[in-house]
This record gives sequence, structure tokens and C-alpha cells, in this order.
Amino acid sequence: MLNENNEIWMNGEFVPAERAVVPFLNNTLHYGIGFFEGLRAYQTDRGVQIFRLRDHIRRLFESIKIGGVVPLRFSEDEISEATRETVRRNRLGDAYIRPLAYFQGDHLGMSITQGELKIGIAAWNWPSLFDEAAIRRGLSVCVSSFSRMSHNAFLLKAKACGNYVNSLYAHHEAVTNGYDETVLLDGQGYVSECSGENIFIVKNGAILTPPPATILEGITRDSVMTIARDFGYSVNEGMIARDMLYTADEVFLTGSAAEVNAITSVDRRTIGSGMIGPVTAELRAAFIRTIRGKGTRSVEWCDYI
Ligand SMILES: Cc1ncc(COP(=O)(O)O)c(C=O)c1O
Repeated sequence: MLNENNEIWMNGEFVPAERAVVPFLNNTLHYGIGFFEGLRAYQTDRGVQIFRLRDHIRRLFESIKIGGVVPLRFSEDEISEATRETVRRNRLGDAYIRPLAYFQGDHLGMSITQGELKIGIAAWNWPSLFDEAAIRRGLSVCVSSFSRMSHNAFLLKAKACGNYVNSLYAHHEAVTNGYDETVLLDGQGYVSECSGENIFIVKNGAILTPPPATILEGITRDSVMTIARDFGYSVNEGMIARDMLYTADEVFLTGSAAEVNAITSVDRRTIGSGMIGPVTAELRAAFIRTIRGKGTRSVEWCDYI
């Protein structure tokens, strides 16, 4: 997965990827109490930029705050700079970046306040989450047999390692059954999000996405909502039942790893024309212009390394 000679930033210094190891006894490995981000760097005419770097690093710190664990010994600015440095050091252009805060120390047990919170940042070439053919034809998704975890059982606004066991099971089930991705319903049976992306529907020209309370409020979600409003679309947050997916004119998902991609079938029901719809196509194109430094929002969202 990592390119040759990859170096990972670990707590203030670069180490070869094979030496970026963590002792076996730590609360992150045993109990899932760790926090991470996923973001992308892109090559542009002006050099490499990291898309919404500060927003991602702020969310990492918010995840740690929500988690109520011991603080990191680095500031947001230091982690932002270390992220840029990781992309520079590995001479990457288009890349995926994964900062992860983890526990290390001599304490193993039911505590979130003992031990030290450390952090590593890895970056590597990873062109696309979905293969090109799936992107071209549009994604096929199913409604998962797994519910999204309840917001009162897990802290869903934190991008916490343990939360992703739910996503992994749902995603694995979908892929095993021949789908590209899956949509999880919340405890009340409303559409929440995909295993690692937010979801939108388009109906009669208006855009609707589930409300923020019980989802991870994606930074791509926010980017697409902003761009769509700039274009004059009506964009609302509201409850979505699974049959509203079936009868939507268009459905699409957003995420840093997945970017903006059409969903053209849900539970084997064809969505709209069965092709990438015009609204999705327009927003996807605008998003690509933006990450390549050529959109009207690029100035505020592109962080050149
Ligand atoms: C559960 C979940 N929802 C939504 C998203 C999309 O968030 P973002 O656009 O910030 O990558 C992600 C990815 O981080 C995710 O893991």
C-alpha cells in the first residue's frame, strides 16, 4: 500500500514506515480508543495542496476533546505543519493522509486518562476509493442489515477508531453481497450515512441530506453543500426514509477518501435514469475543479504545502 521508502511522522520525527510501530500493550489496540483523520493532497498548477487541512486537524482535536482523553502534546498548528511536512518528505502529489492519535504507556485497562496520547501521520498514493469502472457507471449500494450505532452508545461526532467496527461490518457485508457500498439506517430507521461517507438525494432539483445530529459531519459534505448553494440549489437537511432513496432522481455520496460520486442503484432498484444525474455531475465537476485549485472556493480551502 505504501510507496517504497515511505516515512511516517511519529511524535515529532520521521521514521521509515516499517519502524513506525507501537507497543502491543496499549488501550487503542485493545479497546479502540484512538482518534484519526482522513484527508487528501492534490497536485494543482500552483503545486501540491492539502484540501481543507485546518478543518481536518480541527476535527481531529475536536474528536480528542469529545473523547475526553488526555491531551496531545502538540498544537493544531504543529500537527498541520507536520501533515504538510509528511507530504513534502514523501514527495507526494495526489495522496491520502492519515493522522492517528493513539495511546501508549504502561497502563492497559479501563481508563481514558492514563497513559500518553501519541500521534503518527502517514501519507501515500491512493488514487481512488472506488475503482474507475464503478465511478463511471455509478455506485451500487444496499441498505445495511447493521444499524448505525446510537449516538448515546458511541460518540459519533468523534472520528474514533472503535466507531469503525460498525462501519467495517456493514461495508464487509455489502461488498460480500456484490455491492460497492452500503447505507446505514439509524436507530429510528432513517437514513444516516454510508460506512465512510455522507449521503445526499436530489428530488425535483432540490438537494436533501440527513441532519447532523447522528452522523459524522463530513468536510466534503460541507464543501458540496456550500458549492451547491453557491450555484443556487436549494440544499436542506432532513429525515430520509429508505424508500425516499428508491424514488430519488439522483443519489450521491461524499467523503475525503470517496470524493463525490453518484449512486445509481440502491437495493437493486435503479435510481433515476440509472446514469450519473445532471446535478451530481455538476457538483462532482465543481468539486474536482475546487480540489485542483480552479474553483471559486479554492482560495479558502486549498492549503498549499
Ligand atoms: C462515517 C463517516 N461519515 C462521513 C465521512 C465523510 O467525512 P469527510 O468528508 O470529512 O471525509 C467519513 C469519512 O471521514 C466517515 O468515516
